[in-house]
Amino acid sequence: MNKNVVVGVTGGIAAYKAADVVSRLKKHGLDVNVIMTKSAQRFINPLTFQSLSQNYVVTDMFEEPKTWEVEHIALAQKADLFLVVPTTANVIGKIASGIADDMLSTTIMATKAPILIAPAMNTNMYENPIVQENIQKLKNLGMHFVEPAEGRLACGDYGKGKLAEPEVIVNRAIELLNQQKDLKGKKILVTAGPTKEPIDPVRYITNHSSGKMGYAVAEKAVARGAEVVLISGPTNLTQSAGVKKVDVNTTNEMYKEVLKRFEWADIVIKSAAVADYRPSNVSDNKIKKSDSDFSIKLTRNPDILMELGKRKKNHQVLVGFAAETQNLLENAKKKIQKKNLDFIVANDLTEEGAGFKSDTNIVTIIDQDGQLEQCKKMEKKELAEKILDKAKNLLKE
Ligand code: CTP
Repeated sequence: MNKNVVVGVTGGIAAYKAADVVSRLKKHGLDVNVIMTKSAQRFINPLTFQSLSQNYVVTDMFEEPKTWEVEHIALAQKADLFLVVPTTANVIGKIASGIADDMLSTTIMATKAPILIAPAMNTNMYENPIVQENIQKLKNLGMHFVEPAEGRLACGDYGKGKLAEPEVIVNRAIELLNQQKDLKGKKILVTAGPTKEPIDPVRYITNHSSGKMGYAVAEKAVARGAEVVLISGPTNLTQSAGVKKVDVNTTNEMYKEVLKRFEWADIVIKSAAVADYRPSNVSDNKIKKSDSDFSIKLTRNPDILMELGKRKKNHQVLVGFAAETQNLLENAKKKIQKKNLDFIVANDLTEEGAGFKSDTNIVTIIDQDGQLEQCKKMEKKELAEKILDKAKNLLKE
């Protein structure tokens, strides 16, 4: 495989296993460059990696470069994959906080290559909420992890924190290197999350959408090489690196931002849970209670997807979602016709493991000609890949 892997080695007892990882990567015909932190060099000698990788090992940011290649930007650009093995809690924390104070952290910050992190540390450290929060943050940003294994640790403790087997790490690395950039050059517009319609300065109408489905689609589309704009209602999620995000609150704001970019897009995936109505009048001041009942008059919001359906050109693929609590298929089929969709992803909100807040979804995908694909319960990220596969196959060159 004619590709380059930059391997970052950090200071943990498992650093010796990184030698096996480098050796295996070389056996796959990969070009490997190793960067070692100062602490890593206390555990294993750079010469080992130099011999295995047949490349000069970078150990010091301020050292005179041996060739013009070993400058941190050059390595960041050269990498097809950035693998950090083993990764200490300290280095995970540094990446998560945007600290770039040595050669490894600087190069990681400068790279656009996929990043694969193989943590190894004491169980209590691994389970520390700060470390877990940092890992989650990096996962949300689209970084990949090889979970540590459970077992007897070097410190004598038993638990999770042992570096995954070199074979497992290398297999994951090869998988990422093989990931096809099959959406390169394609422009994808995704909407996600709920919309929020103000009633007065302190109150609003919204729904339970978490945005997870749309964010997963955006993340996977970028990983497959697409140019992605994500128009997002208010959520607690962080978008993946490479996704261009536009924040909106109301349906009208979403309508404006989506329409602005519709012509630009090859594929539009409308997973947002859009509010169909908004309060007819938004009070400038907080509405005070009285002794009688109170009602809010609502005005119809535009149907963004229906508007897109009217404007859709032959080369564009339009994907809608249908959130239903009854007559799922019948209602979803009607939405395909009414909104001129290429296909719709229908989910029954009453099913356990489907719908708004969950990490999983159970959907039926319905084509324009009424053909159904009933999907098993799956992770939203896996479903995102499926939706992208289907949309890609419908693109006309
Ligand atoms: N949608 C939209 N604009 C709206 C309402 C919905 O763009 N004002 C889009 C959603 O993003 C989704 C699809 O239309 O892709 C279906 O949304 P859903 O809420 O299931 O259905 P509605 O069309 O609102 O119909 P109903 O409320 O009658 O179920």
